[in-house]
Amino acid sequence: MDINEFKKNYLSSAQTLEHSELSAKLSLKFFKELLRFFPEIKVFNNPQDLTLLKYGAMLHDIGVMFEKNKKNPPKPHHKIGRDLILENKISGLDEAQNLVVANIVRYHRKSLPDENQHKCYKMLSKNDRKKTDVFASIVRLIDAFDYNHFNMVDDFSLDFDRNQRILTIDLGVNIMLNIGQGAALSKKKQFLEKVFDIEVLFN
Ligand SMILES: [Fe+2]
Repeated sequence: MDINEFKKNYLSSAQTLEHSELSAKLSLKFFKELLRFFPEIKVFNNPQDLTLLKYGAMLHDIGVMFEKNKKNPPKPHHKIGRDLILENKISGLDEAQNLVVANIVRYHRKSLPDENQHKCYKMLSKNDRKKTDVFASIVRLIDAFDYNHFNMVDDFSLDFDRNQRILTIDLGVNIMLNIGQGAALSKKKQFLEKVFDIEVLFN
C-alpha cells in the first residue's frame, strides 16, 4: 500500500494527520541534531534509513482509529499499527525495511524491545535492531512534544554535556503550564536515555 493510502485510510482526522506530519518533521530534525553529539548514528544518516524514520513517525498512530472504535480493543494501538504495516506493506520498501517501520510504530509507546520475548523484534537483523532502537526512541519522545495534538511545539534546540552525558532539550514552551506534558515527557524520554546512555532534561 502506498504511503499516501496509509495516510488517507488510517489518519483520517485533520488533527491526527497534523500530529503525524509534525512528528515526522520533528523526528527527522531531532535525528539530525543528535548527529552532532553521537557520531555512532551516522551509519543511519542516509536517505533510505531516514525514510524509515519518517514513515515510522508518520504512521505511529495509524492503529488509533481501530482502538477507539471498539469498547474492548483486542490490541492496543501500537500493536494494531504494527500489524497494519506488516499486513499491507508500505510500497517501495523491502521486507526488512517494512519490518523496521512496523517495529518503530510498535515501540513508540509502552514496553521496550525485548529480544527474547518479542517475535517481530527478534526477526530484525542486529543492525536493524539498533536502527529500530534509535528511531523508535526518537519517535517515542517526539510524540510527547505534541502530547495533546495541539501543535504547540513546532521547534526545539538541543545541548549536550559530554562529561555528564546530559542532553538538555529546549522546547520553547513552558512545560509547567501545559498540564500533563511534564509527565508525558518524563515517561517517554526513558527509551532514548537507555539507547544513548544519557540523561535527558528539559528547559
Ligand atoms: Fe502520537
